[in-house]
Amino acid sequence: MFQAPIVLRVRKRQKLVEDKVSRPEKVKFQDVRLYLVERKMGNSRRSFLTQLARSKGFIVEDVLSDTVTHVVSENSQALSLWTWLKGCDLKDLPSVHVLDISWFTDSMREGRPVAVETRHLVQDTVPAFPEGSTPTPEVKVSRYACQRRTNTENYNTTFTDAFEVMAQSYEFSEIEGSCLAFRRAASVLKSLPSVVRCLGEVQDLPCLGEHTMAVIEDILQYGHSFEVEKTLSDERYQTLKLFTSVFGVGPKTAERWYRRGLRSFGGILTDPSIQLNQMQQTGFLHYEDISRAVSKAEARALGNIIDEAVHAITSDAITALTGGFRRGKEFGHDVDIIVTTPEPGRERTLLPDIVDRFKQQGILLYCDYQASTFEWSKLPSLKFEAMDQFAKCFLILRLKASKVEGGLNCAEEDDRGWRAVRVDLVSPPLDRFAYALLGWTGSRQFERDLRSFARLERRMLLDNHTLYDKTKNKFLAATTEKDIFAHLGLEYIEPWQRNA
Ligand code: CTP
Ligand code: MN
Ligand code: MN
Repeated sequence: MFQAPIVLRVRKRQKLVEDKVSRPEKVKFQDVRLYLVERKMGNSRRSFLTQLARSKGFIVEDVLSDTVTHVVSENSQALSLWTWLKGCDLKDLPSVHVLDISWFTDSMREGRPVAVETRHLVQDTVPAFPEGSTPTPEVKVSRYACQRRTNTENYNTTFTDAFEVMAQSYEFSEIEGSCLAFRRAASVLKSLPSVVRCLGEVQDLPCLGEHTMAVIEDILQYGHSFEVEKTLSDERYQTLKLFTSVFGVGPKTAERWYRRGLRSFGGILTDPSIQLNQMQQTGFLHYEDISRAVSKAEARALGNIIDEAVHAITSDAITALTGGFRRGKEFGHDVDIIVTTPEPGRERTLLPDIVDRFKQQGILLYCDYQASTFEWSKLPSLKFEAMDQFAKCFLILRLKASKVEGGLNCAEEDDRGWRAVRVDLVSPPLDRFAYALLGWTGSRQFERDLRSFARLERRMLLDNHTLYDKTKNKFLAATTEKDIFAHLGLEYIEPWQRNA
């Protein structure tokens, strides 16, 4: 009984695929492009009328866009139809014929588009703008994420999730250009204040190319994208996605295991020829915990634990929560914290001291420590998107439930009373604090675009250490993030608006 809807859905999908693929009819009327409004007309009648018109040589568009010349509706209320049309952001709505089905049936009978008469029109009964009000000026969306305000609310997850699947898949295939194109497009959609309902609404947006548009078009029309579904069901994609979800396993290792014919964790763990490094062993050991999201309350608890440790070591230490939690996210994959001190040079030895303390407390499950290689003589770095040179460590800590307000974010039946959490600590010299904070707050796309903007629009080099003005050949000092935005001639964007 519960099977029935699923079967129906599959059939419908196959049928839609056929509709989309086979369009052998010859176009007779190049200048007329119809769009049939599904609402009130219904899906099956719309399909039938579409085929009828196409068989007579008419172009019928599947999606409402600026190319449409004739919009046809049936049984629609003029007011609701016009309200909807105005929300579609068509460039030149006044020049579009908005017609009743009578125009369509007349045209089918004649076998050609008949002249539009008053009786065919669905009249717009309300003025375009209420009296006394002015139309809202069109706000242009910047192609740089650092000129957009993107809070944590994403109204377009249907599209951005689909884009992330495509980006991920291109990343696995090492096709960097396409990967970035999908990430950039996702970032633009994340900044929109509402759900995208028709193609017209995205037509003028930056960073949306042919391929991303095709995915949007499919989702608008069918509720999902065939290409994305195909990728999701692809064995290679699924396997690489699974393998790279393990801490310490990157795309290269995942690919190597896949090529050897491995498809599951069981396969990897029982293959005697595979040597896991320490990071990967820890990754498998704490897989369940690490792949579960970290809550805000857990991040706060870890912030307290780190504060306490640092202050026990040096009284004038400074710590700052950064990464996704600073951007106001409710959940994250880890906790990112900056630790520093005003005592010059001390920041280079601070992290090993903190890690030792965690070891003594019995909460250190894993530590990958990278000593500082920071030197002024290496700046400005010309390596775009290179990692920063500050001392840092990638940790896994044992977090007790009793330390977390409201308890741990874990399954109800899990009564161990603790969980493993990924924590990143970075320790820049105090005079580099603003740059480190800006760089580690993210998001990745926001950072990428800040650097591109600096380079392409300002001829400056920005990284986690400094900002260098190439036209004046000098480093620009900054004690706060606001100073850096000001140097770049950008409006200040708050951390919670950087979720690009
Ligand atoms: N970062 C960096 N250098 C590193 C690691 C991270 O500059 N060696 C920066 C990244 O560019 C990113 C920020 O630190 O902007 C946070 O990285 P990450 O924790 O991976 O992502 P979050 O945005 O915090 O997302 P999540 O909530 O999933 O952790
Ligand atoms: Mn993070
Ligand atoms: Mn991190």
